[in-house]
Amino acid sequence: MFGVITLATSKGGAGKSTLARSLAAHWYALGHRPALVDADPQRSLANRYDPTGRLSGVPVIAEPEECVGEVIEELRLRHSPVIVDTAGFRNRTTIGALVETDLALIPLKPAVEDVDAAIATYDLIQEINKTQERADRPIKVAMVLTMTMRGTVIARHVRMQLISASYPLLVAEMPNRVAYPEAGIEGLSPTTVDPDGAAARDITALVHELMKLENYELLTVRETSP
Ligand SMILES: Nc1ncnc2c1ncn2[C@@H]1O[C@H](COP(=O)(O)OP(=O)(O)OP(=O)(O)O)[C@@H](O)[C@H]1O
Ligand SMILES: [Mg+2]
Repeated sequence: MFGVITLATSKGGAGKSTLARSLAAHWYALGHRPALVDADPQRSLANRYDPTGRLSGVPVIAEPEECVGEVIEELRLRHSPVIVDTAGFRNRTTIGALVETDLALIPLKPAVEDVDAAIATYDLIQEINKTQERADRPIKVAMVLTMTMRGTVIARHVRMQLISASYPLLVAEMPNRVAYPEAGIEGLSPTTVDPDGAAARDITALVHELMKLENYELLTVRETSP
């Protein structure tokens, strides 16, 4: 299991918070002890946390400032995984979180702006991996398509574009489903609300693919983008 997973991309609205909460809900349902760090000044996860709700056992710690690294270090002693949601723009808090991260997930919608931001975020992570702190323990990174609609040309095009340039794109996606925003109204996730539904199955497939990455060094070898 990755100890710390950070959701990052400089594009707003790509699905970071939704995927962060969905992953936490998935592992919580399996009996793990995930925690969420809300490192976004918009506090979209922290604002929806319900201390009496069905995800009350997944703490949400709001830390939009630069001491996010210390918060993560402290949480990882008691929680696994620690899942960090970041802001939809590049800031020092995101970099501070990435430095403490085992796996960086870069969500992107099938749209050119999202692709550009995903590549810029990938390059930022590779820069961090060149620092002394992370050179011998590089952050693993994977991109994941979000809000995809079945059979659309743009989704296929974006997938081909990223794969042909050797970016580490997951096969699993977080497709466009109303179950995500509906569950999100109460700070919940499809896995909590409808564990047998299609959206919960998407997250299960995504987690299975993430777990396989643990065994591969493949994702850390790519040097820089062309
Ligand atoms: N798979 C999905 N299907 C349908 N709607 C989704 C899906 N994922 C996210 N959404 C919706 O898209 C919007 C943006 O998602 P989300 O807030 O997770 O993105 P974000 O990257 O965290 O945005 P920000 O950069 O503003 O923090 C939200 O209204 C969310 O409910
Ligand atoms: Mg968000």
